[in-house]
Amino acid sequence: MGLRSMKRYIFFFTLCILLLCLLNGWQRGIKYSTYNHQYTGKNFTILLWHWPFGRSYSLKGDICWDLYRVPHCKLVDRRSFYPSADVVVFHNRELIQGNQTLSVDLPRPRGQRWAWMSLESPAHNGNLKQFANIFNMTISYRRDADITIPYGELLPKEDKGPAMEESPVNKSSLVCWVVSNYMSHHKRSQVYKELSAIVPVKVYGQWTKTPLSSADLLSTISHCYFYLAFENSVAKDYITEKLWYNAYQGGAVPVVLGPPRSDYEAVAPNHSFIHVDEFTSVKEMGTYLHQLAEDKKRYTEYFTWKQKWRVKLYKDWRERLCKICSQYSSLPHHKVYSNLQAWVSAENV
Ligand SMILES: *[C@@H]1O[C@H](CO)[C@@H](O)[C@H](O)[C@H]1NC(C)=O
Ligand SMILES: *[C@@H]1O[C@H](CO)[C@@H](O)[C@H](O)[C@H]1NC(C)=O
Ligand SMILES: *[C@@H]1O[C@H](CO)[C@@H](O)[C@H](O)[C@H]1NC(C)=O
Ligand SMILES: *[C@@H]1O[C@H](CO)[C@@H](O)[C@H](O)[C@H]1NC(C)=O
Repeated sequence: MGLRSMKRYIFFFTLCILLLCLLNGWQRGIKYSTYNHQYTGKNFTILLWHWPFGRSYSLKGDICWDLYRVPHCKLVDRRSFYPSADVVVFHNRELIQGNQTLSVDLPRPRGQRWAWMSLESPAHNGNLKQFANIFNMTISYRRDADITIPYGELLPKEDKGPAMEESPVNKSSLVCWVVSNYMSHHKRSQVYKELSAIVPVKVYGQWTKTPLSSADLLSTISHCYFYLAFENSVAKDYITEKLWYNAYQGGAVPVVLGPPRSDYEAVAPNHSFIHVDEFTSVKEMGTYLHQLAEDKKRYTEYFTWKQKWRVKLYKDWRERLCKICSQYSSLPHHKVYSNLQAWVSAENV
């Protein structure tokens, strides 16, 4: 190859690469604008001050876009990003255990928000009096948090499956319960004790020395008519994977004990669960469960929601953090939690 043709070759090669790059960028632009209607072009930077429970995950690449299709969201865990971070997130557990400290005197860049994050019930959040007048937003399972990160939720099914596809089959136990941390003072333990005197309750887990492996959990629950989705803490909106995963995914009708029925109705179809408060006594509830299991038609009605809804579980902290960006524009311009302790322990029960 002569020098001239070599030069020409390199020139065309470079031109092609350039064109490809342009085309790619243009397509990405189109993709972004279809997903994000209020395209602003601004990247939000979310700084996680420390990882929850000391377990970190990869933040390589454009993680919010790559995993969850949330655009313009830069998730970082290196503190050198502090000066440019729009939101700095502090997970509560490490703060109250003293593994991490808040540098309250750190000069806060203008407009930066500090977020308090916890998925625990109020009883397990420790004393929050020390955190007055520090945080601008809350990230919790509560519906009234600035960013709500539930344990699970229902999303509409895109393709409606055949009507009775999910109808329950092959049940061998009336009531099942999985419990590892049994405490006799828990409200749920009292209800269990009374209920098991009336109807058979099959118990699994650490407490009875019959633990279920995660591989066996759902298939075991699928053989039960009812599953006791009893929360260990009774608190506003505190509805955990015991409902979303164990009961709903396991294919048993959940019998729930936790916040009031209205909290459940706000996030779950009315006729998909049974709430202990619907009955004047545990005895009455036992009789109801027994009769319902005998009546195949009425029992099956508790599964009709599955035609329209599917369960989505939230397990990855990165997905929860990316949610900050999707809701950033609806955050109040100025907000200070002057009494975080009072907000967290707000009762509706
Ligand atoms: C935090 O400290 C507690 C005890 O103070 C300890 O048990 C726990 O393992 C520590 N957690 C991390 C993530 O370092
Ligand atoms: C029902 O469950 C039992 C116990 O797990 C199993 O042995 C049996 O094969 C199942 N029957 C059907 C029809 O699925
Ligand atoms: C939900 O169900 C309860 C009892 O099952 C019933 O009393 C109530 O009217 C229902 N609410 C709605 C909004 O359908
Ligand atoms: C966040 O809270 C701090 C401390 O109370 C306050 O000075 C600041 O104005 C707040 N920022 C926003 C954006 O609400």
